[in-house]
Amino acid sequence: MMNIKQLTGVILGGVTGLVMLGMIACDGDNAISGSILKTPNLSNASSFDYEFVTQVNGTSLSVKDMILSRSFKFNTGFPPGSGNVDSDMQEAAMTFSNASAKLGRVLFYDKRMSLNNTVSCGSCHHQSLAFSDRQPISVGFGGKTTRRNSMSINNPVTFNNLFWDSRAQSPMDLSLRPVFDHIEMGMESDEMLEKKLAATDFYAPLFKDAFGTSEITRRKISLAITHFVTSMVSMNSKNDKVNEGMAQFTQMEKMGHDLFFSERAACFKCHSGSNFSAPDDPGGAYGAPTVAGTANIGLDRSYADNGKGNGKFRIPSLRNIELSAPYMHDGRFNTLEAVIDHYSRGIQAHPHLDANLKDGNGQPKRMNFTAEEKDALIAFLRTLTDVSFVSNPKYSDPFAN
Ligand code: HEC
Ligand code: HEC
Repeated sequence: MMNIKQLTGVILGGVTGLVMLGMIACDGDNAISGSILKTPNLSNASSFDYEFVTQVNGTSLSVKDMILSRSFKFNTGFPPGSGNVDSDMQEAAMTFSNASAKLGRVLFYDKRMSLNNTVSCGSCHHQSLAFSDRQPISVGFGGKTTRRNSMSINNPVTFNNLFWDSRAQSPMDLSLRPVFDHIEMGMESDEMLEKKLAATDFYAPLFKDAFGTSEITRRKISLAITHFVTSMVSMNSKNDKVNEGMAQFTQMEKMGHDLFFSERAACFKCHSGSNFSAPDDPGGAYGAPTVAGTANIGLDRSYADNGKGNGKFRIPSLRNIELSAPYMHDGRFNTLEAVIDHYSRGIQAHPHLDANLKDGNGQPKRMNFTAEEKDALIAFLRTLTDVSFVSNPKYSDPFAN
């Protein structure tokens, strides 16, 4: 059962999001109005372009090409021609269209996708929060809590290691897992899901536009969600502009940038490439990251949740990090200050602590950042925020109005 504290958390989460960016995004009333099923408002949806994203330098990039050049091994950016795409993602590329991404958007925000019509993907992934939520752990359809902190969604098209333990290999692989998860959305069978969507009057035409026939199948649902999720591309932050020579860091941001990329702080050794993350399989031609996609950062001496094993968790993307508090797989830190304090003085000894976080004697590193250095690191992390991504109406909730 959801207790009052969790319920209040859900509502407060909504309010904070609203206040933070001054936009309508959160469905804080989920738990209350969940049973009122709405029809999506798609009046302006046909003008949304999901097939192309505009880069900071003004040129556009096709999402289909991004899927096709998606390297199965390396997620450090969008290396051209590095295609090593599994057959699911190949199919996702071939069937990609504005109409299917538009359908995917409706599915992403539709509470019908959960067993008791209370939860959609969007309930735990709020646009204004870079598609994360405010909870340390999230509340699923039955009021039970998820094991881990809801992750922000940032450029999943490039990733071969999604989720905190890297267990999903692609957006397609991930797309239906939450729907059938017994805590998150609880659907019990393909048939139940398909029938439920077929019972509305708006899905048949959306499926027809997307796939040529109005028949509703698990496969099409999975593809449409994949299309929407792969279209979520964030590459318009201040840092991206600085990289293109189109903006300049302030002094503090520059100091934080230099510290981030210093041997002393070593942040870049794990948070690498254009997404400040790391692929599962290191050692390739692109960016040659120094670690595999997961690492143990010494949060605890012994872990209650061992992640991928040995307390190793996915090295998360730091894009839009300012918006996705609380932090870490269990949402233990409420602020970026607290995260930096962990790296500064809080790293615990653990047999599997990553070598990048040990000193010359094999002890946990003490970076002992000064107050100014902490502020600088945070100032730099804030340059990874992409306001256009979190305010773009094409990713917004069509059930909200
Ligand atoms: C009840 C809350 C909840 C719902 C509903 C939910 N998610 Fe999540 N999502 C989470 C949590 C928690 C994680 C991290 C899970 C883990 O690592 O074990 C996550 C992780 C993800 C990630 C991984 C991001 C990354 O960088 O690795 C994606 C993508 C995602 N969810 C998409 C979806 C989609 C699509 C749906 C709907 C089909 C959905 N989620 C429904 C809570 C939720
Ligand atoms: C050894 C690899 C490694 C190094 C070095 C490293 N990180 Fe991390 N970082 C991780 C991993 C793994 C996590 C997730 C850990 C977890 O949830 O258990 C993480 C989490 C974070 C988070 C929270 C992300 C979220 O979505 O909750 C931030 C912010 C962060 N790191 C910033 C930094 C900064 C700043 C530095 C340098 C001072 C740094 N990291 C150095 C691997 C690393």
